[in-house]
Amino acid sequence: MQDFEKKLQEYIRDVEKDLSLLFEDKDLYLSETLLDSIKYSLFSGGKRLRPVLSRAVAEMLDGDVASARMAGAAIEMIHTYSLIHDDLPSMDNDNYRRGKLTNHRVYGSAVAILAGDGLLTYAFNVLSRLPLAPEKTLKIIELISVSAGVQGMVGGQVLDLEAENKEIGLEEMKKIHRAKTGALFRAAILSGAYCSEIGREDLLALDRFAEKLGLTFQIVDDILDVVGDEEKLGKETGSDAKENKATYPVLLGLEEAKKEAEKTAREAREELKNFGEKASFLLELMDFIVVRQF
Ligand code: IPE
Ligand code: IPE
Ligand code: MG
Ligand code: MG
Ligand code: MG
Repeated sequence: MQDFEKKLQEYIRDVEKDLSLLFEDKDLYLSETLLDSIKYSLFSGGKRLRPVLSRAVAEMLDGDVASARMAGAAIEMIHTYSLIHDDLPSMDNDNYRRGKLTNHRVYGSAVAILAGDGLLTYAFNVLSRLPLAPEKTLKIIELISVSAGVQGMVGGQVLDLEAENKEIGLEEMKKIHRAKTGALFRAAILSGAYCSEIGREDLLALDRFAEKLGLTFQIVDDILDVVGDEEKLGKETGSDAKENKATYPVLLGLEEAKKEAEKTAREAREELKNFGEKASFLLELMDFIVVRQF
């Protein structure tokens, strides 16, 4: 575990470097306020799990790690935009994120919305410049656009809002989690695969791994919203209850929700069997996702 944590920290530092480099371009600085607002949220910590996953998958498959890192950085920008918008008064109405006041609390809703728009748009500019064969780049752009859009994260966020104050079943809940959170994790994992050479069976196994990982991640996020430590999380707990969200703890109770997270994590690990020793970092990352406290 110690080696794993060291490696995770090293990968997180690399993500910070990759993102910093992408913001050195002076052409981006049309509005200083907009860039301040973007950087305020983008460089405020964050576990950086999505870019770490893209890279780890490319490494496992001996693929093009530089491209996977760049694709991961673009996904992290999209993820950050989703958080800025998720916290808005018209959505989850939250005051803290990554240990700081939420973006709209500092810059106002208009700039926060535009900072999100800017991050989303710039992410696709970065993706258009991946140092890969054009057909591979296009495949990744297609994957990420579908995962982040109406069929993925954006669609899932709407389902999440529509489920407020409503009783829904387990299958509906899984559908929401798969879309609002799972889709971007899947995009991160499969981007790493698309930066590599991979056979059909292995790709399908990775796809199933991604789905289980995303689900586990959001179940744990829901649990932490009930029992987590605000200091460690960097966001206020009780946010889901305040907005009457449909969550795993509401639906199953805390203990059953924890068991469900462990079960989906176990199923995720199973999918990596074929990759042998090379999957060890991803297996440990899966453990981390279950036991994390932030
Ligand atoms: C939080 O994601 C939002 C969800 C999808 C549940 P993370 O927990 O990955 O947030 P950061 O990036 O570490 O802040
Ligand atoms: C957010 O889910 C998923 C996103 C697409 C941002 P949550 O609303 O549960 O995320 P947190 O708990 O605010 O980080
Ligand atoms: Mg939300
Ligand atoms: Mg939220
Ligand atoms: Mg949450």
